[in-house]
Amino acid sequence: MSTPVKTKGLTIPGIRARKGGEPIVSLTAYTTPMAKLLSPHVDFLLVGDSLGMVLYGMESTLGVTLDMMIAHGRAVTRGAPGCPVIIDMPFGSYEESPETAFRNCARVMSETGAAGIKLEGGVAMAETIAFLSRRGIPVLGHIGLMPQSVNTAGGFRAHGRTEQEAAGILDDAKAVANAGAFGMVVEGTVESLARTVTETVPVPTIGIGASPACDGQILVTEDVVGLFNDFTPKFVKRYAELSSGVSEAVAAYAADVRARRFPAMEHCFGVKAEK
Ligand code: KIV
Repeated sequence: MSTPVKTKGLTIPGIRARKGGEPIVSLTAYTTPMAKLLSPHVDFLLVGDSLGMVLYGMESTLGVTLDMMIAHGRAVTRGAPGCPVIIDMPFGSYEESPETAFRNCARVMSETGAAGIKLEGGVAMAETIAFLSRRGIPVLGHIGLMPQSVNTAGGFRAHGRTEQEAAGILDDAKAVANAGAFGMVVEGTVESLARTVTETVPVPTIGIGASPACDGQILVTEDVVGLFNDFTPKFVKRYAELSSGVSEAVAAYAADVRARRFPAMEHCFGVKAEK
């Protein structure tokens, strides 16, 4: 049996205060049942726009809409009372101006009950992050590999290998922290850079494929438990292979249906049929 190790009720300031302390545990969740299963074990849940690929079969996250994030955000907060839920702002919902970002983030917060939002971008998003933070919206930044910029950044590859690229990402990290973000996801950077960023910024860094040098880690749950096999990043450690369990269960069900091996309700509850 799994043992929950965290206490409920961590707040955004509580996450912020974990800088340099006990590593922060986080996973993605998109649905109520998954939120119920995960929330006793994590410090916060992220409704990531990765749901576009994992749940909807999209090729990238670019087609994810605000309405999709709100629907899944609501499902997750319902399943994880007492656990901070952060919701990803989808591509196109925050980049245009701080005002547009505020309007869309406020909608996400008020319609889902989330504790905060996440958005991708460093120096270019600093003004927006400051605008949101000053108006009561807790922002988790996201720097390094930014899947929403995959078309301009040249695919999924490790970031920060050259001095110039590493310096740019460090500038992004400082800008996001100075703008008031309570933390930042650092995705797909080389370890030395993740360490420098973590040592430099005063807020927690949450790594994904960025080494244990970060203040915490996040992964896509379906990758961790073997439920999404289309594309698994090399850095993901699998803790289960649930896809094969699902296939076996469904094959057994199909065999029962074909063999007419199904009980009637009366036999399930021990209720005798009336004479
Ligand atoms: O969309 C997502 O799931 C993410 C992470 C896993 C950080 O952004």
